[in-house]
Amino acid sequence: MSEQNKQQSTLLAWFDKRYPLISTWNKHVGEYYAPKNFNFWYFFGALALLVFVNQIVSGIWLTMSYKPSAAEAFNSIEYIMRDVQWGWLIRYMHSTGASAFFLVVYLHMMRGLLYGSYKEPRELVWLLGMMLFLVLMAEAFMGYLLPWGQMSYWGAQVIISLFGAIPVIGPDLALWVRGDFVISDVTLNRFFALHVIALPLVLVILIFMHIVALHQVGSNNPDGVEIKKYKNNKGLPIDGIAFHPYYSVKDTMGAVFFMTLFALVIFYAPEGGGYFIEAPNFEPANPLKTPDHIAPVWYFTPFYAILRAIPDKFLGVVAMGGAIAVLFAMPWLDRCKVKSIRYRGISFKILLTILVVSFVVLGWLGTQPATPELTKLAQIFTALYFMFFLVLPFTSKNEHTKPVPERVT
Ligand code: HEM
Repeated sequence: MSEQNKQQSTLLAWFDKRYPLISTWNKHVGEYYAPKNFNFWYFFGALALLVFVNQIVSGIWLTMSYKPSAAEAFNSIEYIMRDVQWGWLIRYMHSTGASAFFLVVYLHMMRGLLYGSYKEPRELVWLLGMMLFLVLMAEAFMGYLLPWGQMSYWGAQVIISLFGAIPVIGPDLALWVRGDFVISDVTLNRFFALHVIALPLVLVILIFMHIVALHQVGSNNPDGVEIKKYKNNKGLPIDGIAFHPYYSVKDTMGAVFFMTLFALVIFYAPEGGGYFIEAPNFEPANPLKTPDHIAPVWYFTPFYAILRAIPDKFLGVVAMGGAIAVLFAMPWLDRCKVKSIRYRGISFKILLTILVVSFVVLGWLGTQPATPELTKLAQIFTALYFMFFLVLPFTSKNEHTKPVPERVT
């Protein structure tokens, strides 16, 4: 051993005696055995982590030049875009990053649905994931108010007024959220505080718990079989491979591919044709002028379409909340013992297709003005969306499944 290596290992030993460094590394990375058959769908957890880091880092730099006040916010964003060195890049990394975050998280959730990753013993991993999704939505919603553009202002106006639809406590609740009778400087300040510190902290804690919970039970895989069932004489799963170096290298490759795409979008279409930053948001907020057409950013539009599909405002709020809440119950609504879609019956494949199609169509409808025809369509697809969750407990109980292999294929 060279002198330098010796010094390094003595330092490591000194540190390890006082802090469980090596054992933590081994437990969660070096000797975390993951199924050897991970496919494309298994990139998105690591990518969600990557985008989260991107949001934190670009967010810190944005905060250095952003002014959280109704008088200065819009101009400070223009200043970042035009005068701050690399400011345009930092801003687009953050605003386009928000859309990337939701894209990656939606695909990550889709994987869970495809391979039954929410089922025993991973119910808690799923529930923590759903909590992450809720907090992420709150985080994105509050972030969107900060540029203080027309859509920031009026989007927040629409969403906060929904609280007002709740019987009895509604109006007081909306007032409490805004901190004022209209959206104002006070609202902007509190959203800033929640967006830059409170919710990111909650996200960090939830991500930590999400991964600890996953490592407690072990990862699922595209075959939906438990690799812990078959172990070698060293007690290691035969169908598992060490996370490091096998998946650390594979995930790095996925990250490089993702970052290439992300860079292309940032450089050539950072506003995503009005889907990532909407056109009215290049105008300063004007409380006296309502934009012709108010729509949230694409990742909220499926839920927004459900809200608008219901004629009664309060029931619309209930349906919109229900559309998210019902996902929490997935581990208990799906009663089929088989996890992976590869071995599940036709009923589940049809139902899942209906769910995905409804979600995408609702997403499109949420971006469109609510004409009577489109509202009818939104009602049909809202019904189909909920049908998935209503029918699943019955069809999944006696599903005609295929034989599941004992080990990964
Ligand atoms: C900030 C958001 C999130 C981050 C950073 C994150 C991160 C991760 C990571 C790193 C993994 C392990 C790698 C992998 O299996 O892909 C994972 C697994 C998992 N996540 Fe997430 N996740 C997030 C949100 C969600 C959401 C919204 C859900 C669903 C409601 C979810 C459900 C799951 C499940 C069920 C697994 C285990 C999958 C399996 O073993 O097949 N996660 N997550």
